[in-house]
Amino acid sequence: MLLRPFRDDDDAAATLDVFRRAITVLASRDYTAEQVAAWASPDIDPAVWAERRAASRTQVAEVDGRVVGFTDVDEDGYVDMLFVDPDVARQGVGSALLRWARATAVELGAHALTTNASLTARPAFEAHGFVVVAEQHPVLRGVELTNFRMRCALDPDLRREAGGAAG
Ligand SMILES: CC(C)(COP(=O)(O)OP(=O)(O)OC[C@H]1O[C@@H](n2cnc3c(N)ncnc32)[C@H](O)[C@@H]1OP(=O)(O)O)[C@@H](O)C(=O)NCCC(=O)NCCS
Repeated sequence: MLLRPFRDDDDAAATLDVFRRAITVLASRDYTAEQVAAWASPDIDPAVWAERRAASRTQVAEVDGRVVGFTDVDEDGYVDMLFVDPDVARQGVGSALLRWARATAVELGAHALTTNASLTARPAFEAHGFVVVAEQHPVLRGVELTNFRMRCALDPDLRREAGGAAG
């Protein structure tokens, strides 16, 4: 498996496909058909999707030249996306992406990683030291979902070693 930055030209369609497949196959175990349809909506504009991924420090996981997962992290340590293709679920791709997010957040000087985790993703984040801060009920395209605000403190010593601003 190779981790590399998102490439504008090639990766937009592949990441949108992983996003849709992860929700319709994996998250559908935890969410109703109505919730899945709202989340993995056919109305997502591919151009807007591509712009957002390019703007949000997206990292993709590739196996045999195929994009099988992606994540991102911002300078505050917020992880917006973590999606893995069902074909390779439970093989460590999500973990590799989360290790990248942690290392990147440390380099950027963030104090903690945070995310809004789905019911499906909560165990994967917990396996990486995140704890639930709050249960939330956001409304997405008119449909209420359940997710969890989660947080994982980052070691100040690691930030110092990485030369992070917050050191
Ligand atoms: C969450 C997700 C990214 C995990 O990716 P993954 O590549 O399967 O995760 P990993 O194989 O690295 O699993 C790491 C650990 O997380 C936990 N975990 C992952 N999936 C789990 C599951 N279905 N049930 C229980 N624990 C799970 C386990 O502790 C696992 O370690 P183990 O396999 O050694 O027991 C993937 O399931 C996914 O895309 N889900 C649907 C989309 C989604 O909800 N995304 C998040 C939006 S916030």
